[in-house]
Amino acid sequence: MTNTYAVVLAAGQGTRMKSDLYKVLHPVCGIPMVEHVIDHIRGLGTGRIVTIVGHGAEMVEETLGDKSEYALQAEQLGTAHAVQQAEKLIGDLDGTTIVVCGDTPLIRSETMEALIEHHNKTGAKATILTADADDPTGYGRIIRGEEGQVLRNVEQKDATPEEQRVTEINTGTYCFDNRTLFETLKKVKNDNNQGEYYLPDVVGILQSENALVSAYVTSDFSETIGVNDRVVLAEAERVMRLRIAEKHMRNGVTIISPENTYISAAAEIGRDTVLQPGTMIEGHTVIGDKCIIGPNSQIIDSEIGDATTVHSSVVLSSRIGSSTAVGPFAHIRPDSDLGDSVKIGNFVEVKKSTLGEGSKVSHLSYIGDAKVGSHVNVGCGTITVNYDGTNKHITTIEDDAFIGCNSNLIAPVTVGKGAYVAAGSTITQNVPESSLAIGRARQENKEGYANKLNQK
Ligand code: UD1
Ligand code: CA
Repeated sequence: MTNTYAVVLAAGQGTRMKSDLYKVLHPVCGIPMVEHVIDHIRGLGTGRIVTIVGHGAEMVEETLGDKSEYALQAEQLGTAHAVQQAEKLIGDLDGTTIVVCGDTPLIRSETMEALIEHHNKTGAKATILTADADDPTGYGRIIRGEEGQVLRNVEQKDATPEEQRVTEINTGTYCFDNRTLFETLKKVKNDNNQGEYYLPDVVGILQSENALVSAYVTSDFSETIGVNDRVVLAEAERVMRLRIAEKHMRNGVTIISPENTYISAAAEIGRDTVLQPGTMIEGHTVIGDKCIIGPNSQIIDSEIGDATTVHSSVVLSSRIGSSTAVGPFAHIRPDSDLGDSVKIGNFVEVKKSTLGEGSKVSHLSYIGDAKVGSHVNVGCGTITVNYDGTNKHITTIEDDAFIGCNSNLIAPVTVGKGAYVAAGSTITQNVPESSLAIGRARQENKEGYANKLNQK
C-alpha cells in the first residue's frame, strides 16, 4: 500500500474576511474551518498531517493541538511556497501527498479518498480535484487540451476573458507523488499578476515535462467551497448546517425545519428526539432519546438525558437528567445539574446549582449557588439570596422540603429535610428538619378602619 501524507495550508491572513480573527479559525457550525479540514483528513487515516501556519500560528496550533504537525511559513509568498515549508518534515518520504486548503471546510473524507484512489490508480504525478461551478468567479480555472487532457490551472487574476468563461475550477485540493511535488516546487516562479508562487503551477510544469497529470472531477461543487469572505462563509455555514441536520435526521432525529435549526458539528442527539424551529444546539452538547427541544431553545455545551423537554429556554454548560421539563422561558446558567423528573417552569433562573430528582421550581424564581435535594417544592417567586455584595454563599434545601411562595432564603442557610417555610418568609437562620419556619411580620387587622379612610 502507498503511504499517504497530508499538507493543510493555513498560513494566510484572510484579508478578504476583514476580521481580527485569522481566516481559517472562523467557525463553521461551531468548529473552526481548518479543524473541519483536519478532522476530515483524519477520517482517511493518513500517515502524517502537516499544517502550514503563519498568520496566527500560535492560535492555529492551540486550536488543532496534537491533531497535526506544524511547519511555519514566516512570510506568505503563495500556496506553492507554503507547501515547500513541509519539505523538512516529509520531503524525503516515498508516497502520495494530499494537499488541502484550510479554508475549504466542506470537503468530505469520501471525496478525498476517491481522489487519492483515482491518483494512485492512474499513476499520475499530480491529480487536481476539480468541480464544475455555477459561478466560477474567484477560483482557478482548469485549462484542458483538445483531447480533454489537463494542461494547467490559471488563476482568475491571470486569466484571459476566454479562460474566465471556463466553469471547471480548481478546488484547492490535490494529490501528488510526494518526492515529485517537492522537486517541482523548486521550479515554480512568481511571474504572475499577484507576484505569488502558485501551487497549481506544479501541475502545468509537470504537464510541460510530459509527466502524467490528471484531474478528478467531483460532482458536488458545494463541498469544495473556498471561504474567502463573509458572504461565502454564510453559504458554507448553510451547506454544513443542512448536512449536519441530514445526518441527524437519518439517525432518527425529527427536525421540523432544518433551515431554521442550528446544530454544532460536535453535537450528539438521540433517536426520536424532536427539534423544533429556532433551536440552536451549540458546542459539545449531548442530547438523549425522545426529547423535545424548542421552539427557540439555545443549548450550549450541555448534556441532556432522555425524554426531557426544553421549551424556549437557554441552557449553558449544564447537565439535565431524564424526563425533566425546562421552560418556557427558563435560563439554566453554567455548572447547574438538574436531576431526573425535575420541573423548571417559566421565568426561572438557575445558576451553579444542583436539583435532585423530582424537585420543582415552577415559576418566577432565582436559584443560585444552591444545593436542592430531591422532591423539593420551591414556590413561586422564591429567591436564594446568594450574594452579600462581596461573596457568594450557598443555600442548602434538603429532600422533601417545601418552600412557600415569595420566600427569601438568605445564604448561607440550610432548610432541613421535610421542613416547611411559610409563604412570604425571609429566612436568615437554618430551619431544622421537619419544622415550620415563619419569618414574616404578623398581620394586624384594624376593624372598620376602611370606613374611616373613606370618610376623608
Ligand atoms: C486558491 C487556488 C485557486 C483555487 C482556490 C480554491 C492558488 C494560487 N490558487 O485560491 O486555484 O481555485 O484556492 O479554493 O493556490 N495560504 C498559505 N500561504 C500563502 C498563501 C495561502 O498558507 O502564502 C493558504 C491560505 O491560508 C488558504 C489557502 O492557502 O487557506 C488558499 O489561499 P487563498 O489565498 O485563499 O487562495 P485562493 O485565492 O482562494
Ligand atoms: Ca481560498
